[in-house]
Amino acid sequence: MTIRATFTGWGKCVPPVKLTNADLEELVDTDDDWIVERTGIHERGISHVETTDLAEVAARQALAAAGLEPADVDMLILATVTPEITCPSNACVLQERLEAVNAAAFDLNAACSGWIYGTTTASSMITSGVAERVLLVGAEKLHWVMDYWDRATCILFGDGAGAAVLEPSEDGDGVLSTDLGADGGAGRTMVFPTLGTRGELSQIRDPFMHRLHFDGQAVFKIAVQGIERSVRRAVDRAGLSLDDVDAVIPHQANERIITAAGRRLGIDPGRVVLNIATHGNSAAASVPMALCDGLESGLIQPGSIVVQTAFGGGVTWGSTVTRWGERVTPLGVSDATLPPCDETVFDLLASNRDFYAPLHAAAEPTETGSYC
Ligand code: UT7
Repeated sequence: MTIRATFTGWGKCVPPVKLTNADLEELVDTDDDWIVERTGIHERGISHVETTDLAEVAARQALAAAGLEPADVDMLILATVTPEITCPSNACVLQERLEAVNAAAFDLNAACSGWIYGTTTASSMITSGVAERVLLVGAEKLHWVMDYWDRATCILFGDGAGAAVLEPSEDGDGVLSTDLGADGGAGRTMVFPTLGTRGELSQIRDPFMHRLHFDGQAVFKIAVQGIERSVRRAVDRAGLSLDDVDAVIPHQANERIITAAGRRLGIDPGRVVLNIATHGNSAAASVPMALCDGLESGLIQPGSIVVQTAFGGGVTWGSTVTRWGERVTPLGVSDATLPPCDETVFDLLASNRDFYAPLHAAAEPTETGSYC
């Protein structure tokens, strides 16, 4: 019998403080109608804690849903583009926090496609016998790199985390196929220049170099075409047709991207999970949070064929096709939650506003910045 990696637990962590479109109207020259019409976003989470804290809550929920203790896990993969720290890896910081003492741990950076790359890695580890129980987490504190004077980018992104446990199954369920790809040449469309060693040490906190550089229209086109091609390839590789797909869990970057890609694929919108209205784009956390919503809403049923798909910085893209197992409800629920926050969203964003203010004091820079 073929061994596959199947999802046995899932969980998410949504920050309690929201940045609404009305709040954004007070920060930049924008309005609710424009944001809703162009993106579908009404509000996004702004985290008062670190990436690890978000990841921990989602991970504990996923472990409880799988009926496992942290020590049962033998591999921990953390997909993120906003790690709290790069050495030790954020996955190792999380491993210590969870006391997942038997788990190998590493970070994975494929930006918004991180969850799909992570699922593919976890699946390969399990089917090759390298690992048995993988805890996969996608967590982001994206507001840390957002310029809340730049209306073209700051309206899009939010913070959050999602997680899942994958284990071997011989019952015919699990990850059936995957498709991954990248185009480094197109990567200049979406860049965080300082989250690496490039440049002079003195530039590390240069606001121009720190902010997200982003060509939204170019990314939009790449996304719609990339998702369509990747989903077709993954579904083909699974030996299925698009009519067999019961649920699509897309990266939540823009409602118009999801709608356009769904239309090209001929997929009934009722089979597509959309939660961007309340979360915004949370990069590697977006697909697992939407996966949780797909399970909670009942869209994913025992035996459902589930397509998860994403594209993002790199640029990268990927899709997985999974036959869901018999269980669509959690075995247990963790009482892990974030600490309460007594600050307003404006308090939480004050240091970003101060940091980027010099860029906007004189002549306004172009909306995407000249780095691209
Ligand atoms: O996870 C992957 C990363 N993200 C994405 O995939 C996002 C991909 N791109 C997008 O979602 C869209 O390109 C955006 C939502 C970023 C922008 O939407 P658009 O329909 O491509 O708008 P645009 O950039 O063509 O801008 C249209 C107008 C411009 O004004 P003019 O030049 O026509 O006078 C912008 O200056 O809208 C203006 N604009 C805004 N107006 C109000 C740009 N941002 C805003 C804003 N509020 N926040």
